[in-house]
Amino acid sequence: MGKSFAVALGAVLFISSLSHANVTLSDWIKNREGNALGLMLKNISPSGAAKGAVVASPSKHEPHYFYHWIRDAALIMDVVVELYKKAPTPEAKAHYFNVLMDYINFSRRNQMTPNPSGGLGEPKFEADGSAFTGSWGRPQNDGPALRAVALSRLAMIWLAEGKEQLVRQKLYESELPADRVIKADLEYVSHHWRATDFDLWEECKGKHFYTRMAQRRAMVDGAKLARFLGDGGAAGWYEQQARHISDDLLRHWDKGKKIIVTTLDRDGGIDYKWSGLDASVVLAVHHGFTGDGFFSPSDDRVLATVARLEEAFQKLYAINQKGIPGLAIGRYPEDKYDGYTTSREGNPWFLLTAAFAELYYRAASEFERDGGVLVTPNNQEFFARLGLAQFRVGNRIGANHPHFKDILSRVRAKGDDFLSRIRYHAPDGTFAEQYNRWNGYQQGAPHLTWSYGAFLTAIWQKPGH
Ligand code: NOJ
Ligand code: NOJ
Repeated sequence: MGKSFAVALGAVLFISSLSHANVTLSDWIKNREGNALGLMLKNISPSGAAKGAVVASPSKHEPHYFYHWIRDAALIMDVVVELYKKAPTPEAKAHYFNVLMDYINFSRRNQMTPNPSGGLGEPKFEADGSAFTGSWGRPQNDGPALRAVALSRLAMIWLAEGKEQLVRQKLYESELPADRVIKADLEYVSHHWRATDFDLWEECKGKHFYTRMAQRRAMVDGAKLARFLGDGGAAGWYEQQARHISDDLLRHWDKGKKIIVTTLDRDGGIDYKWSGLDASVVLAVHHGFTGDGFFSPSDDRVLATVARLEEAFQKLYAINQKGIPGLAIGRYPEDKYDGYTTSREGNPWFLLTAAFAELYYRAASEFERDGGVLVTPNNQEFFARLGLAQFRVGNRIGANHPHFKDILSRVRAKGDDFLSRIRYHAPDGTFAEQYNRWNGYQQGAPHLTWSYGAFLTAIWQKPGH
C-alpha cells in the first residue's frame, strides 16, 4: 500500500509539474487577467471607505496602506478609463461610468479639503475623505498632474460621445477660481511646477524627472482640452508652461554617465541616492509620454538608462543570479525600504518589473512603426544586452534589413521575460508590493492596487493579447 501510494503521489507531482510547464506565458496571462482586474477593482470604494476612494492596499497595519493616495488612485483610474473605453457591453460601460463618477466627486472633495500641504499637492487622504494629518513627505506634486492626465483622457472620450455638458459640469469649465476638478489641477500644476517637492517614492525633495514628465503631460493634454472647450487663453498659458518644463527635463540627461538622472537640485529628504539611477524613469515614460516624441519609450536616452538599471539590479539582487528567467527590478539601487520600514534593504517590486515588460513592448512597437532602428552611442549598450553586439554606432537597420525582424522579436521576448519573472514569484497572480531580493518571497503591502494596475497595462501592450 505504501508503495502504490508513493507511486500515485509521484504521478500526481509529475502531472502537476508538467501541467505548470505546459501552460505557456500567454495562456497564464489570459488566465490571470480577470483575477488581477477583480482584485484591483476590489480596492476601489471598499467597505470602510468613502465612495470613489481607491485604497493603495487593503492592509491596515504593517504596513498601513488603507489610504487614498492621489498618485496611486490617478494611475488606477487611468486603467479604469481604458476599461470604460473598451467595455464590451452596455452594462459594463455603465458600471465603469459609475466608478469614474464616484472618483471624480471624491477627488473634488479632496481638492476642497483643508490639509497640511495647504494645496493640491497633499499626497494622501484618509479613506473616508478627511485630511491625513500625520507627518509625511509633502507636498508631492505629481498627484494633481496624474489626476489631470487621467481625467483629460476621459473628457476627450466623453466629448467624442457627445457628452460636452457633462464634461463642463464635472470636469472642466474655464471660469476662475476653478471649481472643476481638471481645471483646478491644471491651474495648480501651471503655477507650482517650478517648486521642489517630494518624489513619487515620498522620500526625496528636489526636482524629479518623474514628476516633471507628469506635469508636462498634464499641461500638453490639458491645453488640448482647454482649446477644444474654447478656453484659448488658458490653453496658450498651459502650452507655454509645457515648453518651460521641457527645457527643465532636458537637464536630467547626464551625457557623461549616460543616464537620465532621477533628481536634481535636491533640497531635502533622503540624501543617499548616489547613483542617480531610478526605475521611476521608466514609469515617467509610461505616465508622462504624450505621443509627441518627447522622451518616448524608444528614446535612446531612455534605453541607455534602462540598460544601466538592469545592470545595477542584476548585480544587487541575489535572485537575479540564480538562472531564473527574466530580471527582478526594484526602485533604485540604494533603496532601504523593505515594505515595512526604511531602515533595512530594498527589494524588487512587481509594478516595476511589469513596467519594464511594458517598456520593451512599447519600444518594439515604436521601432516597427518607424520602420527601423538607428544605433547610437546611447542605445548601443541596450542592443548589446539583447545579444546584438555586432551593431555599430551609426548602423541603421531598416525594415528590409535581414535582422530587423530578429531585433523586434528579441525586444519583445525580453518583455516576456519580465512577465515570466512575475509569474515565477506569483504563480497564482496575486501581488504584494515587493518580493524579497534573497528568496523571492512576497513582502510589503499585500494586494497592492498599483501592482495589479501595472500588470494590466503591461499585458495589454503584449502583441497578440
Ligand atoms: C517610506 C518609503 O520609502 C516610502 O516609499 C513609503 O511611501 C513610505 N515609507 C510610506 O510607507
Ligand atoms: C509607497 C510608494 O513609494 C509610493 O509611491 C506609493 O504611493 C505608496 N507606497 C502607496 O502605494
